[in-house]
Amino acid sequence: MHEKFYLEAYGCQMNVYDAKVIINLMERSGFQEILDPGDADILIFYTCNIRENAAKKVFSRLGMLKTSKTKVVAIGGCVAQAEKDSIFKMSKDVNVVFGPHVYHLLSSYIQRVLNGETKQVIDIDYIKDDKFCGKLDRERVTYSEFVTIQEGCDNFCSYCVVPYTRGREYSRPVKDIIADVKYLVSNGTRAITLIGQNVNSYMGEAPYINIDVPNTPWKLERLIRAIAEIDGIRRIRYTTSHPKDISVALMKAHAEIPLLVPFTHIPIQSGSDRILRLMNRGHTSSEYLDKLKMFCDICPTMQFSSDFIVGFPTETFRDFEDTLRVVDEMQYTISYAFKYSRRKNTPADVMPNQIPDLEKEKRLKLLQDTLMKYQILRNESLLHKTQEVLFEKVGKKDGQYIGKNVYMQSVVVESTTNIIGEFRDVLIESAGTNCVFGRVL
Ligand code: SAH
Ligand code: SF4
Ligand code: F3S
Repeated sequence: MHEKFYLEAYGCQMNVYDAKVIINLMERSGFQEILDPGDADILIFYTCNIRENAAKKVFSRLGMLKTSKTKVVAIGGCVAQAEKDSIFKMSKDVNVVFGPHVYHLLSSYIQRVLNGETKQVIDIDYIKDDKFCGKLDRERVTYSEFVTIQEGCDNFCSYCVVPYTRGREYSRPVKDIIADVKYLVSNGTRAITLIGQNVNSYMGEAPYINIDVPNTPWKLERLIRAIAEIDGIRRIRYTTSHPKDISVALMKAHAEIPLLVPFTHIPIQSGSDRILRLMNRGHTSSEYLDKLKMFCDICPTMQFSSDFIVGFPTETFRDFEDTLRVVDEMQYTISYAFKYSRRKNTPADVMPNQIPDLEKEKRLKLLQDTLMKYQILRNESLLHKTQEVLFEKVGKKDGQYIGKNVYMQSVVVESTTNIIGEFRDVLIESAGTNCVFGRVL
């Protein structure tokens, strides 16, 4: 026994979280994680399907990592959910195909292959809540943890595969989430990030019947208020949000709850109303900007990050300039820009006037330069100020530590003691493009 497995994961925070739980559950079932794929009996790929060539990339990794020792290959996550049993046709090396809703069953599927009961297993069912059954083992809990509160998406943006891979929106019960957070905090967690594809459409069952308003579901702000009352928590974040679901109540929560960081990720994707309509985003660019302005009026310390897609079908250079204008207006702290990528079975894939890759490339570069300009300005605005930093890892040089302030900006300091997992006040002394440098006070 004690077969060794090597796991590689790609994609969003949901996948980072899922992968951590998968490793824990596999080890609990008697398998041992190793970091060298060359020695592994089992190769597990936990995949993301958001942009093109996702499946190809996994198979090329598999080709690189597979050795004569490999006994089982498992492909899971969003590519598995999208490609289903055609994965077996793409590669005869694959034994287990498992979707993002059944990873708690993975070890049993792998065991069946090892026992010789079967050569191929596929499970891409949508089971709602079962996979959340296993809490992380105590010794795996760290100072900063993700907690899934919601999964799936009902928005069907015309370019996106997520509604097809993660399924319809589902909110976990309030009492389960609170129990998870309490467990993590009692084992040392100080920073909690509530995650989901659309956390601000969270609708949890009320944990008790309120006499005035029977059966009122809990929205995100109510959940955050309850979590903020748990002793020991120092920081709360949530990600990611859809602009149409950002409520005034949530804005007020940011202003009133000191533990809730004054920072959030609200993707706009494009600044052109015509493109936003084709994307099926459900709002105009001025509705988005007005909402974020209101957010800043209610909570003046608020800053934002966003995602952008350039080169969506039919996007003209004028449309693209509308996107640049939004960036100039919002001056995002951090942002992510992507070239539009055609995804099969999505409406945008069959739209006419697809944009040539060279043009997408050009727009991406222009957008990234503009985003970088503001990222640097935001970094420079920290000069000579004190920031509360949660330290996460060591830096490149000896004695260097890197952490994040409330705005997710990276802060680099020198320290003679290990400060990973600790909050420290840091005086910022210089600013770079991707980080700032400071001195622990
Ligand atoms: N629910 C999240 C999105 C998760 S996907 C949200 O709406 O914020 C993360 C980002 O990937 C999206 O915001 C979008 O910018 C990008 N993306 C999604 N599908 C894409 C595609 N087909 N091509 C390029 N970028 C895409
Ligand atoms: Fe995809 Fe849109 Fe849902 Fe985000 S909101 S996951 S971009 S469909
Ligand atoms: Fe990718 Fe699936 Fe997340 S497609 S972005 S891993 S929900």
